[in-house]
Amino acid sequence: MIKDIKKIHSYYAPNDLYNKIIEGLDKLGKDSSNITLDDLQPVDEFHIRGDTATRELIKLSGFTPEQHILDVGCGIGGSTRRLAHETGCRVTGIDLSDEYIDVAGRLTQLLNMHERVGFHACSALELPFDDNSFDGVWSIQMNMNVEDKLAWLSETCRVLKPGCRAVLYEVCAHKNTPLHFPVPWAQDSSISFLVPPEEFRDVITSAGFDITVWNDKTDLAQQAFAHVKEPVGEPNLPILGVYMLVGDDISTKAYNLRRNLDEERVSLIEAVAVKPDRPLAPL
Ligand SMILES: C[S@@+](CC[C@H](N)C(=O)[O-])C[C@H]1O[C@@H](n2cnc3c(N)ncnc32)[C@H](O)[C@@H]1O
Repeated sequence: MIKDIKKIHSYYAPNDLYNKIIEGLDKLGKDSSNITLDDLQPVDEFHIRGDTATRELIKLSGFTPEQHILDVGCGIGGSTRRLAHETGCRVTGIDLSDEYIDVAGRLTQLLNMHERVGFHACSALELPFDDNSFDGVWSIQMNMNVEDKLAWLSETCRVLKPGCRAVLYEVCAHKNTPLHFPVPWAQDSSISFLVPPEEFRDVITSAGFDITVWNDKTDLAQQAFAHVKEPVGEPNLPILGVYMLVGDDISTKAYNLRRNLDEERVSLIEAVAVKPDRPLAPL
């Protein structure tokens, strides 16, 4: 397990990311003392359909200003900040990658949002929080790297207050295997652990949740990637982009994701799962 975690961590370990983002903003003519959430969007929302999906999830969540929400696997915090900005709630983001967490904190400070948005580097499988601490949880495209999904979801359920909800937006397997690699979340199969939607559903309920919303978003993901072509020659990368988080082969990764979607090798699920207001059955 420790070996797996190290491998996942080293996949999400960019060098000098914060300074590169600031340089990129500068090249784009943005004054870094005056940047907005939108300026960072190309690099800080690392999930399928980016900020459009984040805004849909915010609506779905129903989270309100007085609540404290946990963002599990927050990356460099784009959707963490968007959630706090749109709802007024307090958000704590956690991520395995201390490089990402460092950047998340510094960008949040730059945006002057640090009073409501904070970050910790830790694993989703061992959250450093008491039972029943949060009024809501959300997790955006992290499960792909988590082999022990029951441990992750049980831990999520543990820190959530009874009667409160977790919003999940996750890549799952589909009818066909194997995946084409590399993909945005993994260079190869050693850190990619997809399960079919039905199995994901079962794990969510085994962890103690009641599922109240289950939406298949695979069609929308396919549409979002329909324009992605097989890369040829040297990569033509934008000034700011998620390649800064996981490497210059992002065009190949995006193309493989398109093929995996089109060939029914991956699916995309949005769900709301509620921690029941009754004692949980022992695992
Ligand atoms: C595809 S990125 C998504 C990041 C972020 N949710 C977003 O949408 O921008 C997946 C993230 O999951 C994190 N991650 C993977 N395994 C984790 C674990 N066991 N605990 C915490 N974070 C993990 C990675 O470090 C990475 O930041």
